[in-house]
Amino acid sequence: MIRLTEYVHQRLAQVIPRGAYVFDLTAGNGHDTLFLAEWVGPTGYVWAFDIQAQAIEKTRTRLVEQGYRHVELFQADHSLLDQYVPVDWKGKISAVVMNLGFLPNSDRVIITRAETTQIALEKASEYLAPRGVLSVTAYRGHAGALEEYEVVQDWFESKNTEWQIEKIISDEGHAQSPVLWWAEKRAGS
Ligand SMILES: C[S@@+](CC[C@H](N)C(=O)[O-])C[C@H]1O[C@@H](n2cnc3c(N)ncnc32)[C@H](O)[C@@H]1O
Repeated sequence: MIRLTEYVHQRLAQVIPRGAYVFDLTAGNGHDTLFLAEWVGPTGYVWAFDIQAQAIEKTRTRLVEQGYRHVELFQADHSLLDQYVPVDWKGKISAVVMNLGFLPNSDRVIITRAETTQIALEKASEYLAPRGVLSVTAYRGHAGALEEYEVVQDWFESKNTEWQIEKIISDEGHAQSPVLWWAEKRAGS
């Protein structure tokens, strides 16, 4: 079994340079945002989104504890990210991280949804630099998850020529185990 959260951090550390500009489209409890802020360092920058105030506050607390100021947090739907990140950043982002589903230890009422996830993927990919990485972790166990998983799967299949895509399943023996798509935008795309 692969623990995808840690695996994603290891892979990101291999490809993102210090000083890079990155997006976290689902800040949640702030683990990924904190990792990204640590990794890119103060010469880099992180834009992080979450639709829930609770998630943004948790993430903010983690960042403040470390004294990180090179992160901008938005309580907003990630499908509207282009309203928050100026157009000048298009083509300059090294990595986009999306960990779908619900806020752990919450009531699971607010979850990422197929329709807005697909829009966010489309918009975020416009900001990625050539050879930039898009990391999407999806779940298949909760209500609404399978529909979203299938939409993400179809979206990546439609990008097959523009992206180099790896699909990693956390536990091959369990049909509902989490899935990661790790995709690198081909140069010239
Ligand atoms: C699995 S959690 C993210 C975990 C997080 N990356 C971490 O390191 O703790 C998924 C998050 O997506 C958020 N979310 C759901 N729909 C969203 C949307 N449309 N836009 C932005 N965030 C959304 C939820 O509020 C939840 O906090």
